Amino acid sequence: MKTIVILTGAGISAESGVKTFRGSNGLWNNYRIEEVASPIAWERDPELVLEFYNQRRKQLFEVSPNTAHHALAKLEKKFDTEIITQNVDDLHERAGSKNILHLHGELKKARSTIDPSLVYELKDWPLNIGDQCEKGSQLRPHIVWFGEAVPAIMDAIQIVKKADIFIVIGTSMVVYPAAGLINYVSNEAKKYLIDPNAEEVSGIKNLTVIRKNAGEGVPKLVEELLEMGEL
Ligand code: APR
Repeated sequence: MKTIVILTGAGISAESGVKTFRGSNGLWNNYRIEEVASPIAWERDPELVLEFYNQRRKQLFEVSPNTAHHALAKLEKKFDTEIITQNVDDLHERAGSKNILHLHGELKKARSTIDPSLVYELKDWPLNIGDQCEKGSQLRPHIVWFGEAVPAIMDAIQIVKKADIFIVIGTSMVVYPAAGLINYVSNEAKKYLIDPNAEEVSGIKNLTVIRKNAGEGVPKLVEELLEMGEL
């Protein structure tokens, strides 16, 4: 069975109503990263940081996966399918995909500030000052902040090396190490980039750029791949 690896970014969730980070009306147009998404921000004003993620988590309980998320879940019928996502939403899970690696954490989880191995599912959207882990320390968002290591990156590299087909959907490819993953994909693998604003990409062999929204481009590509079946 051939292996398909998909790297997704905020663009795949845009049509579900979840804001992207860059571009018009992006999150980073309204918030300063260093004030809400970094260890320094947490030290300086933990309530502001918690509020930033509470608002995004609250919205997550109100949105649904879109046709792109659902299309990707169908790939599992004919391919070994691995999703590596930069997104912290749970829309891939809710669309039914099984093998999902969150590079930048998960909005619906919180973790201990003295023992990072203590991670908790949040049943509701608020996470507040005073919410503590079983060892009595303040809980923080289970998110990889700017300036923090990306613990899952080595696993992600091993996954992309296995790809017979590599699909990149809805990411500006400006944040590393995630943006560097494409360099670990074999030259022989077929590669696809789905993004309405995709710029010219040079130096990547076997790449097809599909300048469409994920909601249109992903289901069409998935149908083509399922029809091709065993390559
Ligand atoms: N369908 C597909 N792609 C889309 C759509 C859409 N409907 N709408 C926007 N896009 C594309 C944009 O053209 C852009 O290239 O999605 C991309 C979103 O880019 P960013 O907002 O930079 O999001 P992302 O690439 O996921 O950011 C990476 O940066 O802030 C950090 O940790 C955060 O995981 C995030 C990382």
